Amino acid sequence: MGAFQCSFRESAFCSARSVVLVFLLWHAGSVFSPAWAAGADVIRVDQNPTRWTISTLHSTYQVILTEDNNLAPGYFGPLSGARLFEAPEYKNTESGTVLREIPYRGGFVELTPALEVIFPDRTRELELQYTGHETGELDGYPYIRFEMKDTHYAFQVSEYIRVIPELDIIEKWMVLKNTGPESVLVERAYSGSVLLPPDSYDLLHLSGEWGREFFPRRTRLTSGQKSLFIRGMKSQQHPPFFMLRPAGDCEENYGPVWFGSVAWSGNWRIDCEVNRGERTQVSGGINFWDTHWVLEGRSEFRTPEMIFGVSTDGPGGASRRLHRYLLDHVMPRPFSRQVSKILYNSWYATTFNVNEKDQVALARIAKDIGVELFVMDDGWFKGRNDDRAGLGDWTPDPVKFPKGLGPLIKEINALGMDFGIWVEPEMVNPNSDLFRAHPDWALHTPNRTAHQGRHQLVLNFAREEVKQFTLEWLDKLLSENNIKFIKWDMNRHVSEAGWPEVDPLKQRELRIRYAENLDEIFRTLRQRHPEVVFESCSSGGGRVNQGILGLVDQVWTSDNTDPGDRLQIQYGFSYAFPAKAMVNWVTDDEWHRKTTSLKFRFHVAMAGNLGVGSDLHQWTAEDKRTASELIRLYKSVRHIVQLGDQYRLRDPFAENRMAVQFVTRDKEESVVFAFQTLETLPGAAKGSSDRLILHGLDPEGTYLVHGDIQNEEIVGAVLLASGISVPLSGNYSSKVVLLRKKE
Ligand code: DGJ
Repeated sequence: MGAFQCSFRESAFCSARSVVLVFLLWHAGSVFSPAWAAGADVIRVDQNPTRWTISTLHSTYQVILTEDNNLAPGYFGPLSGARLFEAPEYKNTESGTVLREIPYRGGFVELTPALEVIFPDRTRELELQYTGHETGELDGYPYIRFEMKDTHYAFQVSEYIRVIPELDIIEKWMVLKNTGPESVLVERAYSGSVLLPPDSYDLLHLSGEWGREFFPRRTRLTSGQKSLFIRGMKSQQHPPFFMLRPAGDCEENYGPVWFGSVAWSGNWRIDCEVNRGERTQVSGGINFWDTHWVLEGRSEFRTPEMIFGVSTDGPGGASRRLHRYLLDHVMPRPFSRQVSKILYNSWYATTFNVNEKDQVALARIAKDIGVELFVMDDGWFKGRNDDRAGLGDWTPDPVKFPKGLGPLIKEINALGMDFGIWVEPEMVNPNSDLFRAHPDWALHTPNRTAHQGRHQLVLNFAREEVKQFTLEWLDKLLSENNIKFIKWDMNRHVSEAGWPEVDPLKQRELRIRYAENLDEIFRTLRQRHPEVVFESCSSGGGRVNQGILGLVDQVWTSDNTDPGDRLQIQYGFSYAFPAKAMVNWVTDDEWHRKTTSLKFRFHVAMAGNLGVGSDLHQWTAEDKRTASELIRLYKSVRHIVQLGDQYRLRDPFAENRMAVQFVTRDKEESVVFAFQTLETLPGAAKGSSDRLILHGLDPEGTYLVHGDIQNEEIVGAVLLASGISVPLSGNYSSKVVLLRKKE
């Protein structure tokens, strides 16, 4: 059964429950309108007892000042629904505040600590007291900063909460200040923690492996801890993302859902803990496994942000909030506001055998079918004939490109396309000039095997020299060539994360410094070369997270381009990330040796950021005509797909159908993609309904419905109530339906 959705029988039961909740919320909303909607302050302070209330459009987050001068989390959920849910009890009689807004190691530890430090005199406990707060605005959005101070040591903690009211999202991060002269050892500094109203919850997260990334997983949280994390700086296993909803709820677009993610491209961790009295805590940030930070005297440490949000319209609403959040607040401008160019990538056609003549031959066909950006993948640099050599030596291979990249780029530009190129800057092959000159630049541990992955080692990005070297060669490549697109790959996990040249204390900072330097390299390159679009790749979707999406414009979703599998991968991806970020190539690769039409493959890829990766020489004239037509169609709808809101209509994990709808934010246009995988046997009961109930449209508008079904004019309210019928027949069949609101 897919994700948070349930079978028809369950669904009837669930909807009864949702209807009650929706009624309660609606009723509560009509009586106690959210403060934000009424134009009141987003952040309000009440005295006696002191309580801070953060109001977003549909949710409330409260913090309480306790009798012993600590901060406790109050209510966090839909509306100011303390009337619907009880806030957790924050103290025991003798123990002082045990449910803390900033849970720390010290005293009675009842929650997963967000902070663990060791002071210079070896004291390993914190004792924090509230000292004040400040409100203000950061990038046009309100924030509150809570100040806490240790009762004995020269150590302060600021917790920031920045509010995006219209998306019902809060961002949390912490700044630790060592105001004394000696170092404090930070063993853990999470970004933040929240406590949900006491209840039983189901967790939805995404998990997978190479070739089957982003599979939705649902599990009931019971007493204890469920942790999601990565250790190797990349992982196909999870992105840092969670959704929680009351146990058993399963409507896609109804009901409360708590959701969040971590803005960190390195090792991250999210802990969901169910404690006494069905208290559910979610906390997370950097994964401090084999990691710590030496907070030197008179210095600060800032954690990355973790976001927490509340949807009142189910997982669908949570995803749409996340999509808008990433597009509007995280992904780099200006590209996050523009549609992406349709790219051609040479990998599946030529693998490492790249040269000017063959690339230009592919580019001509690509141009003819409507491609706008030609990307030469792996194989272009010195000594790179397979994956055993070359990484690290970033100059054009003198045999393949005797006159450098200039002539090739010129020809691509003359065809009217931008040129892009593949790089893998974090890696080095032992068989490279770079490694021979600087073997110590690769991560290594003396007297231990230096394990290779894909015949390569990982460069120690924590080192300043490595950061400088990387910045220099990339800057040179971009300055000397008219390159408008970089595909930044990362094809192996980190192992033997040793740095023997520095003392063991500093070595344990390696993973944090690595991620910080990666961040700095991207930011510097973007600043120096603002016209360049960046794509992150990691053997497919091995590094897809909010951290990397703050640095790049799109991600390579999966090396698995089989269109049937892609329906599932893309469906899972949509829980956490917007379609604009999700690059899909049409290829001839069929992992399960089925035969699908070019049209089906295009339709699948068009439900995201379209690219082409086929060997175009194998295409017939008819294939090229079909491709041109579909690319023309995509160009007319890509603004809806990439910048609009997304509604999941059919779950490919639950049935032999998948359908997804995109709607522009102004509700003027919409596009629906409907797919059938294996047809049910003739004569057997039909597996799925042809009817698709639509969402997000203006109920009062009249829409012209056209495309692969009969043209019709239908009122928005009817489309929202009864939908449209999109019959599909045959294995791997698909239809695209377009809607445009009439003047
Ligand atoms: C792995 C990527 O996922 C592929 O798309 C391709 O770029 C290869 N690396 C090149 O080595």
